Amino acid sequence: MITVVGSMNMDLVVGAPRFPKQGETILGDLFATAPGGKGANQAVAAARLGGNVHMIGAVGNDAFGVELLTTLRGEGINTAGVSRTKGMSGIANILLTEGDNRIIVVPGANHTIGPEQAEAFEQQLAASSIVIVQLEVPLDLVTRTLELCRSHQVPVILNPAPAAEAARNLLALATYITPNETEAEELFGPAWERALEEYPNRLIVTLGKAGARFFNGERHVSVKGFAAEVADTTGAGDAFNGALGVALSEGMELREAIRFANAAASLSVEKIGAQTGMPEWAAVVERLSQGHSG
Ligand code: RIB
Ligand code: NA
Repeated sequence: MITVVGSMNMDLVVGAPRFPKQGETILGDLFATAPGGKGANQAVAAARLGGNVHMIGAVGNDAFGVELLTTLRGEGINTAGVSRTKGMSGIANILLTEGDNRIIVVPGANHTIGPEQAEAFEQQLAASSIVIVQLEVPLDLVTRTLELCRSHQVPVILNPAPAAEAARNLLALATYITPNETEAEELFGPAWERALEEYPNRLIVTLGKAGARFFNGERHVSVKGFAAEVADTTGAGDAFNGALGVALSEGMELREAIRFANAAASLSVEKIGAQTGMPEWAAVVERLSQGHSG
């Protein structure tokens, strides 16, 4: 059983040939609402890969909240840990141009919960083979989750996204830490590569299509990414984290698990929408047998 403690957002995706300049109005060519949020995306990624997934988080008492819950349940995810709170659900305003995106998140319900949400589901956390957390819910909830998991000796993947310096205090409590390059720089400064050696087999820095890096206690290991036809990179990091959770809970050793997660992430970018492209196990296995992106 995999438990994800994190955010649920409705993504409001607007596509345009380019980003507008300040004060400028331009015509776009795409609009879609699509369930997202780093927590929910990671939960969907894990569930599609066969994980028995439980979500802990919150949605608002609006129509988006209903849809966010319904889609998670449709993926077979247990939502008993998702509260419905007063006010709006989280939304993400996603501006999409060719291969690039800019995102504004309005947390809504995601910021109405705190440590008590983790405490209420302590038994759930304790019974998990792995727990995954990100930083789109309040830091005190993330902290409490990490503490409870530690006391029950449950491994946790901390995906420090979006980047937050405050997450530095959480690193010691996490089993695995999975920043991208930007987030690694926020946490460890420009010389983040040295930090890999301080967290052997624990700190995994993702590098987009180039794959990921970690230090295995003896040497630095680069785990290559896979070639993909990019439609939308939104949620690629979430695909990586959800897949990493499944791979580790299936007992894969770290390098193999990262390779599996790289393959899942490469598939996820081939469809528009954060959750749409989350692959199933067979598709990942097929990609694993194909070439790397070089
Ligand atoms: O990681 C991608 C996610 O970040 C999007 O789905 C959006 O909701 C934002 O939270
Ligand atoms: Na996608």
